[in-house]
Amino acid sequence: MTNNPNIASTERYDAPDATGHFGTYGGAFVPEILYPVLEELKSAYAEARVDPEFDKQYRDLLREYVGRPTPLSFCDRLTTELGGAKIYAKREDLCHTGAHKINNTIGQILLAQRMGKTRIIAETGAGQHGVATATVCAKFGLDCIVYMGSEDIERQRLNVERMELLGAEVRPATSGSQTLKDATNEAIRDWVSNPIDTFYIIGSVVGPHPYPMMVRDFHRVIGNETRAQLLEKEGRETPDAIVACVGGGSNAIGIWYPFINDKDVQLHGAEAAGEGLNGRHAATLAKGTPGVLHGAMSVMLQDHSGQVEIAHSVSAGLDYPGIGPEHAHLRDLDRAQYHPVTDEEALHGVELLSQTEGIIPALETAHAVHLLPTLADQLGEDAVIVFNCSGRGDKDMETIAKHR
Ligand SMILES: Cc1ncc(COP(=O)(O)O)c(C=O)c1O
Repeated sequence: MTNNPNIASTERYDAPDATGHFGTYGGAFVPEILYPVLEELKSAYAEARVDPEFDKQYRDLLREYVGRPTPLSFCDRLTTELGGAKIYAKREDLCHTGAHKINNTIGQILLAQRMGKTRIIAETGAGQHGVATATVCAKFGLDCIVYMGSEDIERQRLNVERMELLGAEVRPATSGSQTLKDATNEAIRDWVSNPIDTFYIIGSVVGPHPYPMMVRDFHRVIGNETRAQLLEKEGRETPDAIVACVGGGSNAIGIWYPFINDKDVQLHGAEAAGEGLNGRHAATLAKGTPGVLHGAMSVMLQDHSGQVEIAHSVSAGLDYPGIGPEHAHLRDLDRAQYHPVTDEEALHGVELLSQTEGIIPALETAHAVHLLPTLADQLGEDAVIVFNCSGRGDKDMETIAKHR
């Protein structure tokens, strides 16, 4: 049960404010040259979000191209195996391209087109956002450059092949840890050099305002569908708990957002504890401190002099030293609980879901799966838990096989 003194019954959650702040987090901390670019984006998005034509284009594509609504599948064997609450999976793994990331790239490419931008850039960790961006660029006939850390290029070779086949150029980021953080640095560098014709499709609820709000808005379809589907299946709109993995935080916010004002719905996030909190990890909310990363104030892994620390996770999509500002805010409000999950626990999560439900989840998703046994037990058999099955495991088969 969430006990949140900061959201009184008469008070509705309404973040961010006009300046893009979620409490003390968020905002826009960018080089001066990007200010007019963000202003242009803010006003284009403000117009688009209330334009019925934009809404129709977005919804048509979600239905006809992405394959929405995705099912809310009752996990009967998993429920029996765990012996507690009824468990449902929201099947974002069944979206076109294999993960939730496509909801957001559809929204952003429509905006880019509306703004007359001709060149798209993106950053990617696991490659799912890169694939989703390359996909919509192919569909809309726009040039696409995807920055990706060299280490991730090795870990996610299959997704690199997919992006290239779709016509994108994958540019390796060779600095630092050669992962998502460094790919993001390179993408921002490109953006600063090409502010006029280029649209930066950010892949999670991170970056300067308005990105965290805009990406959330493009993903909240996940939670909206969950409400309607649960009503149909269980005769109630709200579950007792919603579980999701948290990298930057987009799949979690997408499924949680329509439930934030339902105070009885527990929100649980799984972040990557890698080798454990005393070893190499990416558990930003457990171990991070406030700071500015990639254009926003949030919580991040940094040393005493403010240098960004290298994050680690077996899953490339959670291997990021920062987190979306809204998650830092929800944590401070005590509206959501975040739990560190190690690489080993996530690998067990892959086996649990594969062998009870015949669904091989992405390694990112498997972090969320790991929270299910404890929660099911705690909440008991009258309860309903929904977990966000954010992506499928095909891209991770090599890594999974190596660790089994
Ligand atoms: C399948 C899947 N789930 C989750 C994530 C983590 O991102 P986010 O926290 O933005 O949902 C990724 C990132 O690549 C992913 O590919």
